[in-house]
Amino acid sequence: MNIKVSNLSKVYIKRNKRIEVIKDFNYLFESGKLYLIKGESGKGKTTLLTLLALLQNETGGEIYFDNEKVNSLNNERKCSIRKERIGIVFQDYNLFEGLTVLENIILLDVCENRWNKQEIIKKATEILDLLNLGHRATHYPFELSGGEQQRVGIARAIIKNPSVLICDEPVSNLDDENAKRIVDFINDYCHKNNKLVIVTSHNEYFDTYSDQILRF
Ligand SMILES: Nc1ncnc2c1ncn2[C@@H]1O[C@H](COP(=O)(O)OP(=O)(O)O)[C@@H](O)[C@H]1O
Ligand SMILES: [Mg+2]
Repeated sequence: MNIKVSNLSKVYIKRNKRIEVIKDFNYLFESGKLYLIKGESGKGKTTLLTLLALLQNETGGEIYFDNEKVNSLNNERKCSIRKERIGIVFQDYNLFEGLTVLENIILLDVCENRWNKQEIIKKATEILDLLNLGHRATHYPFELSGGEQQRVGIARAIIKNPSVLICDEPVSNLDDENAKRIVDFINDYCHKNNKLVIVTSHNEYFDTYSDQILRF
């Protein structure tokens, strides 16, 4: 899936002050490519990702998924498009503390009765193995390192095989080995499966793997 944005803008109002975070941004994100958004903290990287993932409304402009204009759809429709096509990895993992690794990954699919449970567990187990987390399936988030939690977040995002994977700072706060493992995995997801991947980062790990670098 391609994502096209035209004249996208986002303004926050904070203590009666207008903060224009995204201003007349035009871009075409194409499937099969890995886009790296770099920039200092506060430049609007997370904001852009939340707009592309339809998690909050833009102030102006348009967002197209392939040729469908999606930003003006109602919330219910946005939500179903997001569930179907977009995997999101949040910077702070957002795992459910009371659920095991495996439960975190399959929760949404089980709730929505998307596949049968045995099938989902099999798929989740395969993804965990790929991410070197097979031995952690029955552990709880608090028993895992930051790098392991980050990988659980990635597993949860890709179990539904989304056309678009959006990752906010997926390798911040990780040691070198864990960071490289995640970069490899995300790179493969993009380039071996012809997926659109958009990543933000303030360090160098993704530089040589990305097809385009956008500087904010
Ligand atoms: N919900 C919000 N309300 C008001 N201001 C916000 C909100 N979210 C982000 N901002 C402000 O927008 C700017 C960009 O934030 P963000 O998109 O998180 O940047 P980055 O991810 O590049 O660090 C910052 O100045 C931040 O304080
Ligand atoms: Mg951010």
